[in-house]
Amino acid sequence: MIKGVIFDLDGVLVATDKLHYLAWKRLAQELGITNFTEQDNVRQRGVSRMASLQVVLEKSNQQYTEQEKAGFAEKKNEYYIESLTHLTKEAILPNAAETVAQLREKKIRVAVGSVSKNAPIILQRTGLYPLIDEVSCGLNITRSKPDPQVFLIAAEKLALKPEECLVVEDSAAGIQAAKAAKMKSLALGPEKENPLADYHAASLADPSINWDMIFEL
Ligand code: BG6
Ligand code: MG
Repeated sequence: MIKGVIFDLDGVLVATDKLHYLAWKRLAQELGITNFTEQDNVRQRGVSRMASLQVVLEKSNQQYTEQEKAGFAEKKNEYYIESLTHLTKEAILPNAAETVAQLREKKIRVAVGSVSKNAPIILQRTGLYPLIDEVSCGLNITRSKPDPQVFLIAAEKLALKPEECLVVEDSAAGIQAAKAAKMKSLALGPEKENPLADYHAASLADPSINWDMIFEL
C-alpha cells in the first residue's frame, strides 16, 4: 500500500527545467556550440550537473581537461543561480502545490527527491518548503539518477519502506531510478518518453490522475 509520494522537483513541481536549459545554452554559445537544442536538454533531465555538461560537450569537437570541465559546470551553475533570483511562487507548475496539500490531507507523507544541489533554494523561493515533509537532494547523495540513492534516502527520511512509496517524475533517468528502488512511478509528459512507468499523465493538472486508485484506498 502506498503511504508516501516522492516528487521530483525540476519539471514536476516547478518550471525550473527551462532555466536549466537557458543556462546550458548560454554556456554552449560561449564555447562556440551553436546547435545545442531543447531536444538535447531532454537528456539532461534528472541527471547530475556533470552528466548534463557531457550532453553539451558531445556537440563540441574540442577536448577539455577535467579541470576545465569543472569550471564550465561552475559557470553554468552561476548562470542558473542568477536566473533563480527572480524565482517566485509563479514558477510552481499548475496544480502542483494543490496536489501536495491534498495528499497531506489524506495523511500521505510527501518528499522531494531531486539530484539538484539547488533544491533547497528553489523550495524556499517558491514557498513550497512548508508543504513538504522531507527533502532528499543533490547535497546528500553520491550517485545521481538513474541510481536509486536519492529516492531510497527520501523513503528512509519518511520512515517508509521503498515499496510504500510512489515516485512522480518527468525524466527517463528518474523513472529508471524509481524502478531500481522498487518503487511505483507516475511519469509526467508524453507517455512514449517513459514507457516503463506504472502510471502516466500529462502533468499534475491532468484530471485523469486517479490518486485513490493509486493508493488503493
Ligand atoms: C535535475 C535536473 O533536477 O538536477 C538536471 O533535471 C540537473 O537537469 C540536475 O542537471 C542537477 O542540478 P544542479 O542544480 O545541482 O545543477
Ligand atoms: Mg525533473
